[in-house]
Amino acid sequence: MIEQANRLNKVQEYYFSTKLQEVRSLAASGKDIINLGIGSPDLPPPPQVIEALNLALTNTGAHQYQPYRGTLDFRNAIKEFYKNHYRVDLNAETEIVPLMGSKEGITHISMAFLNEGDEVLIPNPGYPTYTSVTNLVGAKPVYYNLKEETNWSPDLEEIESRDLSKVKLMWVNYPHMPTGASANETIFEELVAFARRNKILIVNDNPYSFILNDSPRSILEAEGAKEVVLELNSLSKSFNMAGWRVGMVCGNEKNLNTILKVKTNLDSGMFYPLQAGASAALRLPASWFTSLNKIYAGRKQKILKLAKALGCMPGKDQSGMFVWAKVPEGETSEGFVNNLLYTHSIFIAPGFIFGDQGEGYVRFSLCATGDVIDRAIQRIDR
Ligand SMILES: Cc1ncc(COP(=O)(O)O)c(C=O)c1O
Repeated sequence: MIEQANRLNKVQEYYFSTKLQEVRSLAASGKDIINLGIGSPDLPPPPQVIEALNLALTNTGAHQYQPYRGTLDFRNAIKEFYKNHYRVDLNAETEIVPLMGSKEGITHISMAFLNEGDEVLIPNPGYPTYTSVTNLVGAKPVYYNLKEETNWSPDLEEIESRDLSKVKLMWVNYPHMPTGASANETIFEELVAFARRNKILIVNDNPYSFILNDSPRSILEAEGAKEVVLELNSLSKSFNMAGWRVGMVCGNEKNLNTILKVKTNLDSGMFYPLQAGASAALRLPASWFTSLNKIYAGRKQKILKLAKALGCMPGKDQSGMFVWAKVPEGETSEGFVNNLLYTHSIFIAPGFIFGDQGEGYVRFSLCATGDVIDRAIQRIDR
């Protein structure tokens, strides 16, 4: 028996990887499972994207290795996207690196900047990958709590009252998953100043800015941001392309070159037709988001009805593709979710998987049709 590497001692298999296996086996045993657990868009990508992908399949060189930094056309599409939607100027030659999903960027950035023993500020609740990758590289997660009373904003004064001498990196994620909170007016500027004062690299993970959100923002809009921040972005949610695995990291040339020292040793470029399809997506007019959000808005009304039928209390003003809601008094998130799964065959995500500040909450995904959500409501009403 070969022992696993020590670096895995603090890392568990991703919750959804194991739980969805259970959900699938319940379905295989004949249960009519309604899955409202994960944020995997069920709607198709824009037709222009499929067309561009298909056309690119027969391009000369389409099946060869691609540039490590992505094609210049793809980087130009990202540059235009950032300018048109976030008012941010980026240099396509030096300030953009395409990624195979933003999730892999979390690993690249951690491998590129963290030594063993370095500390990493992580939102609680927050995306579990920040913690697991921090552990994988031998760094130490230190959490900053986000609370409903302060609309899930970081308390920078409290964080700054701590010893931050070992902190090298801070993960920020607005619009925030799982709570759906948006960044307040000033937080990005405050974070940039905080990063500069404390010599910490801040990374904003920004995959949700176009979903049910009227004013998409980037941390790179803040004055002087490029000096001290990076931003991850993704086509997974914005263009229903989660399975394509296309994202990007943007920031200054020096930081991106550091990341490329890792990335160029891990993969050998992105399949050309994916880059062509992704470029077509990024060049679509804003009306794409208007029509997408019309569908999500309809679904959200139904999910809010379902949450209330279950006695849950959804928070206000949430963006993104989830509804985050408090479970009834006295229930735990895991108990509530398991009970719903085993008695009503409805799967939602328990809040505890996002950190202890997520305990007492559950997350409903909007990635199911209105008819499916209606069926869930009828099941509960019955
Ligand atoms: C906060 C957050 N960051 C990153 C990701 C990963 O997205 P991608 O598909 O771009 O890897 C997700 C996916 O659910 C997420 O919720």
